[in-house]
Amino acid sequence: MSAVIIDGKATSKKLRGEVYEKVAKLGAMGIKAGLAVVIVGDDPASRTYVNNKKKACAECGIYSEEYALSAETTEAELLALIDKLNAKEDINGILVQLPLPKHISEDKVINAIRPDKDVDAFHPQNVGKIMTGDFDFLPCTPAGVMALLEEYGIDVSGKRAAVIGRSNIVGKPQSMLLLHKNATVTICHSRTKDLAKILRESDIIVAAVGKAGFVTGDMVSEGAVVMDVGINRNAEGKLCGDVDYAAVSEKASFITPVPGGVGPMTITMLMKNTLKATCIQNNINLD
Ligand code: GUN
Repeated sequence: MSAVIIDGKATSKKLRGEVYEKVAKLGAMGIKAGLAVVIVGDDPASRTYVNNKKKACAECGIYSEEYALSAETTEAELLALIDKLNAKEDINGILVQLPLPKHISEDKVINAIRPDKDVDAFHPQNVGKIMTGDFDFLPCTPAGVMALLEEYGIDVSGKRAAVIGRSNIVGKPQSMLLLHKNATVTICHSRTKDLAKILRESDIIVAAVGKAGFVTGDMVSEGAVVMDVGINRNAEGKLCGDVDYAAVSEKASFITPVPGGVGPMTITMLMKNTLKATCIQNNINLD
């Protein structure tokens, strides 16, 4: 079998168009959607992500502000900025790019963001809502995976899904979103025994490991759906995912490429969350 390549760029373009239209509707009511993006230090990958987030805002008609702070910024200074952004009327969403420098507690910073401006869905209140299924904001990367599955008509109900990785940003919320859609979910991680056996028994695999070529062709059964969340550099410095794409795409029914798969969707979901935050804060329902 040769897999259908899931086009995250095309799906993103379509969904960003929908966000743009709704943002324009708000604009006609005199309401502007605004996102603040905070970056601390000069990590090149974080810089690229932040630039892409600002570009996506412009594409969707969302006002954005960037706060680029030096790596020496203290925790107290960053918390003071969060306080200011929490109160700022033209800012509906706050995104603090992670990772933060070691001397700043990510937990403290995430906890300081007003939950109704937490467009990453990292605040414990929003994480709790994801557990119960009664959520306002979906975590961006897992939501991007779910939106691609929906776009390609892939029904997950009753299917066996394996999520590789248990991070707070991807693995854990991804498992919950799949569970809410009635998949039978196995969360795999570095201590999992017989990982290959679990993957071979899975209809859907979401790889969020952070290791190039981690999922090999022999780990995947014919017809499986493979969603690759990894963003790595291989030995030649080329961008690649967690999945051995050449081998796995021969067996899978659907596969996401890297780049051009889940990556663009993550930022698109951030745009959707910023729109949602603006609607919630203004008591408007555009759905
Ligand atoms: N760093 C890597 N992924 C993310 C993300 O989704 N949100 C934020 N804020 N930082 C990240």
